[in-house]
Amino acid sequence: MNPIRIKDKDFVLSISDADIQQAVKRVGEAINRDLADKNPLFICVLNGAFMFAGDLMKVVNIPCEITFIKLSSYDGLYSTGAVKEIIGLNESVVGRNVVVVEDIVDTGVTMEKILGSLRAKGANEIHVATFLQKPDALQRDIQVDYVAMKIPSRFIVGYGLDYDGYGRNLKDIYTVID
Ligand code: IMP
Ligand code: MG
Repeated sequence: MNPIRIKDKDFVLSISDADIQQAVKRVGEAINRDLADKNPLFICVLNGAFMFAGDLMKVVNIPCEITFIKLSSYDGLYSTGAVKEIIGLNESVVGRNVVVVEDIVDTGVTMEKILGSLRAKGANEIHVATFLQKPDALQRDIQVDYVAMKIPSRFIVGYGLDYDGYGRNLKDIYTVID
């Protein structure tokens, strides 16, 4: 498989569209089983989770709502550590059972901030569904309920994830070549 180039970096195919769809289906079916009577509010974390959320919600077939928040913590290839909320939540989460839908849990700093904020706003049960997790990079004590795929701590693009804004539209996932 030929590498693809995005800006100044080369990337090689690492997870195919077919494998992604299978993993997303597993998560959606688990959510259907676990949260059938919870009337969940799904909270999609933009921009990265837009593709995962879209595919996931096509599998989820229980009564639910979906809304969107936007944050940023990445500057190019490396986490800046500083998480800033750009677009906040308009819906009330008081007493709601929420599912945070993320593209990837890396250090866990972003998720810790989101979870703290939802707790402070009075959410009831708070679940996390992430498409990817880099378990070796985790620095925070957070509970991730649903993980579609676990991957090594290498920088990746595609399926919503970007390198400096590019690559989000790729349907497969590519890993950077050092
Ligand atoms: P954390 O706060 O370190 O867990 O980082 C979470 C955010 O960083 C994710 O929501 C992604 O947007 C971004 N991120 C983490 N790893 C990667 C990667 O390999 N490629 C692109 N974005 C990433
Ligand atoms: Mg993200």
